[in-house]
Amino acid sequence: MTKVLAISGSLRSDSHNTNLLRNAVGLFGDDVEVEILDGLKDVPPYDEDDDREGASEAVHALRAAFAGADAVFISTPEYNSSIPGQLKNALDWVSRPLATNPLRNKPAAVVGASTGAFGAVWAQAELRKVLAAIGARVVEAEVAVGHAPTRFDEDGTLVDDDLREQLGEVAGALVSAVAERQELARTAA
Ligand SMILES: Cc1cc2nc3c(=O)[nH]c(=O)nc-3n(C[C@H](O)[C@H](O)[C@H](O)COP(=O)(O)O)c2cc1C
Repeated sequence: MTKVLAISGSLRSDSHNTNLLRNAVGLFGDDVEVEILDGLKDVPPYDEDDDREGASEAVHALRAAFAGADAVFISTPEYNSSIPGQLKNALDWVSRPLATNPLRNKPAAVVGASTGAFGAVWAQAELRKVLAAIGARVVEAEVAVGHAPTRFDEDGTLVDDDLREQLGEVAGALVSAVAERQELARTAA
């Protein structure tokens, strides 16, 4: 069973990005278990002193969630043309120690939604850069949900067929990346 950790970069309850993640869950297939990360809001600001002296429970839970996943799927909003602080902060915690961090060589995919026209493309690009810098294997596929309030019905279901298809392609690319990585590990063993 492949395990995917899904993360919404938004903390608000009616988040379009969280809705996008929920729509993606059903597109992964039966042999994939998707866990949506809970507790992003509990992660304290990164402080190297705290990291040295013993990180909080929230940070241990965050790192364990990343360590237990075969792949990571993130839906990010765009705040002032970049990654929301709470998401970047969580990734900073996960990234240390750099040499052994749980994102190292792990397949990761990024999608995004915004109320503007472009679907958080700048935040997505910066997030891909950050993930790659941490050591993740970022898949190329993209979904940019612009004008987000018009793309979901009142139950939070994505109503745009093209976007749904693109979301399925990202899910497929992520699962393929996991399979390739497992195959590589098998042949290297
Ligand atoms: C602090 C802040 C900055 C924002 N900056 C941008 C931006 O640069 N580009 C954009 O498309 N939307 C921007 N927005 C609007 C977000 O796209 C919108 O709030 C969106 O719904 C956030 O995602 P969510 O629905 O998942 O919470 C910003 C919103 C906030 C609160």
